[in-house]
Amino acid sequence: MPVNLQQPWAIGGVEVPTRIVLAPMAGVSIQAFRRQGRRFGAGLVCSEMVSAAGIEHRNERTFGYLRVSSDEHPLAIQIFGSDPGAMAEAARMVEAAGADIVDMNFGCPVRKVTKTGAGAHLMEDPAAACRVVEAVARAVDVPVTVKMRRGVANGSRAYLELGPQLVDAGAAALTLHPRSAQQMYTGEADHALTAELVARVDVPVIASGDVTSREKALAVLERTGAAAVMVARGAQGNPWALREMIEGESFRPTREEVAAELVVFIREAVRELGEERAVGFLKKFYGWYLGHGRFPKPFKQEVVQLRTTEDVVTRLFAAAPGAAPLVERLEGELPAAEDEVLLDRLPISVYGGG
Ligand SMILES: Cc1cc2nc3c(=O)[nH]c(=O)nc-3n(C[C@H](O)[C@H](O)[C@H](O)COP(=O)(O)O)c2cc1C
Repeated sequence: MPVNLQQPWAIGGVEVPTRIVLAPMAGVSIQAFRRQGRRFGAGLVCSEMVSAAGIEHRNERTFGYLRVSSDEHPLAIQIFGSDPGAMAEAARMVEAAGADIVDMNFGCPVRKVTKTGAGAHLMEDPAAACRVVEAVARAVDVPVTVKMRRGVANGSRAYLELGPQLVDAGAAALTLHPRSAQQMYTGEADHALTAELVARVDVPVIASGDVTSREKALAVLERTGAAAVMVARGAQGNPWALREMIEGESFRPTREEVAAELVVFIREAVRELGEERAVGFLKKFYGWYLGHGRFPKPFKQEVVQLRTTEDVVTRLFAAAPGAAPLVERLEGELPAAEDEVLLDRLPISVYGGG
């Protein structure tokens, strides 16, 4: 059956308007990234992972707190942890802050996370994984979902046994990133595994891994029968990729459009993180936005060296003066800041992944 990326679907009672989901990425999926993703056609956006254990260990190093605003919905907020009680409490807070979906991270391969029994460790402990999902599903009225890897070790097929058990425990959808935790981000995502999972469960499956173009999105959906594809690295500094996937036309943004999106992103990041944190956080985004042959390499190198975000904005406007009216229009469309909810009891993890 031909797949239509613009066809709505649903997770539990939550309608998702397109078949593209913007991935959770620690150190990337800040509010500015999520709301931009929605604007470019992602049907669902996800937060980076927030720590359920943060309630108990308030002094851990964190990346700040999530903000949720009216233009992000439908929004999944991802929580991680291993203690069912703490996860249930985190889920209630996340729901109260406006999450349409509570997603649980069972895929993070980072040792600091797995050694606490959370993230990908749960792939190897089905009983503990199911207790977490049951507790979270009981705690909230919104649908709860799980994002997993294939397992911890290379060649693991843990996902295939665990998936149906998580559904029985209350998961309303599953995302599979079919790499092992050991693989991290190397090799290829093996979507033959996604197809096997789709055949095993009667809830929507989201396919994550190596979806960077419309062709790949369509091929993965057709090959696997998944309800949607998730885009992570392909959307870094490249929201146009999402529009291209959904609308099927090639969008090569002009320099003005690139500069305008980046300026808005910078200002939003500063508002969310504060200038000091934003300076470091944004450096990788400069490379992502200004690459793809959009600006000459020396320009990119010059921008990365600048000391303040205001200097970067000034330099971008000097390089692309036509960006100013575009920025004005984009900023005019942003919702009022007072409509925002700050989720200030659950720290964003600095050790994300999945
Ligand atoms: C920088 C980075 C941070 C990530 N952080 C998270 C995270 O917090 N939670 C999660 O479930 N997955 C996380 N992931 C995994 C992605 O959501 C996605 O499953 C993976 O990158 C494969 O998709 P891709 O090939 O489109 O990048 C992260 C990936 C990257 C590259």
